[in-house]
Amino acid sequence: MKNTVKKSLSAVLAVLMLLSCFCFSVSAEEGDKAGYEVLRQTCTVYGDAKTQRGFSWFTQDDCDGVVQVVKATDYHTSGFDKAVSFEAKTKSFQGYYNHKAVATGLTKGVTYYYRVGSLENNVWGADSTFFTDNGDGSFTFIAIADVQASNYDNFHKASLVMDAAMDTFPKAELVVNLGDFVNDCTNEEWNDYGKAFGKANSQITLAPVAGNHEGNITNKLNVGWFNTTFNLENPQGLLNGTNGTFYSFDYGNAHFCVLNTNDMYPMTEAQRNWIVNDLSASDAQWKILLTHRAPYSAGKNINKPDTVLLREMLIEIVDQTDVDLVLSGHDHMYMRTKQVKGDAVCEDTKYVTEVYNGVETTFAVNPDGTIYALPSTAGTKRYGVNDSAMDPIFDCADVYFTTRSERNEETKEETNPNAGGCFAGITIDGNKLIYNAYVLSDIDEENPDAKQVLTNVDNYAIKKTVGGQDVEDTYLPTDPIGTIDQTIANFFTAIPNLIISYIKMLIGGIL
Ligand SMILES: [Fe+2]
Repeated sequence: MKNTVKKSLSAVLAVLMLLSCFCFSVSAEEGDKAGYEVLRQTCTVYGDAKTQRGFSWFTQDDCDGVVQVVKATDYHTSGFDKAVSFEAKTKSFQGYYNHKAVATGLTKGVTYYYRVGSLENNVWGADSTFFTDNGDGSFTFIAIADVQASNYDNFHKASLVMDAAMDTFPKAELVVNLGDFVNDCTNEEWNDYGKAFGKANSQITLAPVAGNHEGNITNKLNVGWFNTTFNLENPQGLLNGTNGTFYSFDYGNAHFCVLNTNDMYPMTEAQRNWIVNDLSASDAQWKILLTHRAPYSAGKNINKPDTVLLREMLIEIVDQTDVDLVLSGHDHMYMRTKQVKGDAVCEDTKYVTEVYNGVETTFAVNPDGTIYALPSTAGTKRYGVNDSAMDPIFDCADVYFTTRSERNEETKEETNPNAGGCFAGITIDGNKLIYNAYVLSDIDEENPDAKQVLTNVDNYAIKKTVGGQDVEDTYLPTDPIGTIDQTIANFFTAIPNLIISYIKMLIGGIL
């Protein structure tokens, strides 16, 4: 009997040991691979938006980095079997490993699937998508600003605003983030950003703008974060490696010029010259400037020396290069100007109201000047309107309000109808630009299951016509004199051919 019990116990122990070995080996393997988990994945514009994308991600441990890219049609039949792989460059940064790869040779106007990760360890991020610019004059993009969170809860709240933006504009091909992604540039914050914005960042191409919270030269802690976190094509030889970067790209019939307003004490001559040359050289139908610090706002920073310097330097360039729209962040409140030129309102702007896509829309027709807009913040840190700093900005501002919560002290009810996280959606449809801004109300802490309410808080539209007719061309003629020359040249080339045809006809008649 004793022997039987001993044998049974030995058998149980042996099984337990085997199981523990198995469990240990599995957990050890999982533990090994945990360090290769893909963190903070982004897909960014990188040069030609029709044929290229930049990718960046982080891992805790050192490993190879690869992005695999495949057309959606092939992905749906055979996953990543037909994918093209692009190797990443890997470097250590702040205790993590950053991987950057560029996909080239893409086909325009195509939905792609991609995944980033380690080929050697077979550890991949989520299957993700992006859409390549098809080059025509019709597309939509989303603008958000200043999430600037320092804990996951606030990143999550901002991601709900981003999700609402993508639900409102499901065909949006691009999101511009106007800077201040995080507050203190710690690994924890960036990991929280990557986790909370993982859905958006895996579904849409990002055009990031450097904020002062990820590249302020006065704060040594955030040096290098922006340029490491995002993979952007920098102007040749002009990369400022520490406080962010400036860059530009064409999308559809629009040219986007992205500034680095951290590079401005005062703004370096290199960046200033680059902006002038970049905007002057573009013949795109629409010119859009993205900045973090705002040349015009109704917020607390408007009269600070850095903002005054920026405004004095920038508005002259904006005026001279015919920029249509300037989108900015930094001041965490909502504002959109009227048409502004020479630091004054263009009083003679003509408007026409017509039905566009079933919605009665008022368009500024061939307006002079530029619209400056701040889509407040998608985050939870919000500022009030700075009444004392509004002159002469007051004259230029058309719509402005705080998105900060303002509750009745007794009833605790929200009294600000515009309280919440903000975003803007901009549709460019050939000769028309339609701008809309929204606020998503905050989660009701007393009643967390209550649905958040989305409100359209502002809209504005522009259309460009020639001789009273809508301009249908994707691009306006860039060299009308050259075109006339070509027509004359064609005429004179045609004359000898006409003579030869006439002679042939005569000879034919004689014979
Ligand atoms: Fe800022």
